[in-house]
Amino acid sequence: MKRFVTFEGIDGSGKSTISKLVTKKLQNDGYESIWTYEPTDSTIGKYVQECIKTQSNPFITSFTFIADRILHCKKIQQWMDDGKIVLCDRYAESTYAYQAAQLKSELTDPIHWLQELSKDRILPPDRTYLFVINPEASLARIQQRTKLIPFERLAFLEQVHKNYLKISKGERFLHLDATQSIDSLVNLCYHDILETKK
Ligand code: ADP
Ligand code: TYD
Repeated sequence: MKRFVTFEGIDGSGKSTISKLVTKKLQNDGYESIWTYEPTDSTIGKYVQECIKTQSNPFITSFTFIADRILHCKKIQQWMDDGKIVLCDRYAESTYAYQAAQLKSELTDPIHWLQELSKDRILPPDRTYLFVINPEASLARIQQRTKLIPFERLAFLEQVHKNYLKISKGERFLHLDATQSIDSLVNLCYHDILETKK
């Protein structure tokens, strides 16, 4: 069984909807599970929200996202030690995809730079689900949100989308077609976590 799984993808790809439903399903079936998210609601997490809103310097944004995550990892470790399954809505790949898009004109290889900053300082997930959807379709899903944040613009999300595809290679990643029905996505993640057959 997997103990620590993360949900990644561009804004509107369905991460929150699916990760919450999977957590509920696990809990209903008697598996102690916890749903958590980034940016967190810690003091640093709140500062991160400010950085996004005010379109702060991307280096400051990057350092604060990573600091928020290092702090979050202490809690995640504790939940895992308590025997819980931890489901996290956004994690390290969000930084590699979004902040690399922000730092594109500042560094020659921003993804590598961000990965090096995090290396050995954060917990490795057992699985990362990447919700794959084209940015136009995901933006259409969230148009009704009252306030779109500065990251929710098409050109930016297209770069983020490209970065996600670039970084999510290897056994840890499971790419999911995010346009499938909510039910089938929930079932896919649920059975993958429990390592059972559908
Ligand atoms: P994210 O957390 O990735 O930003 P949300 O979970 O908030 O995305 O979903 C964005 C919108 O898309 C919500 O209105 C949600 O109900 C809808 N949605 C999520 N998953 C699906 C799906 N598989 N099919 C259709 N609509 C979906
Ligand atoms: P979130 O509230 O999860 O957005 P959504 O529900 O739309 O997916 O995250 C807020 C924004 O923060 C989102 O646009 C992605 C961005 N973000 C980063 O840029 N870097 C990070 O490391 C994280 C965790 C989020």
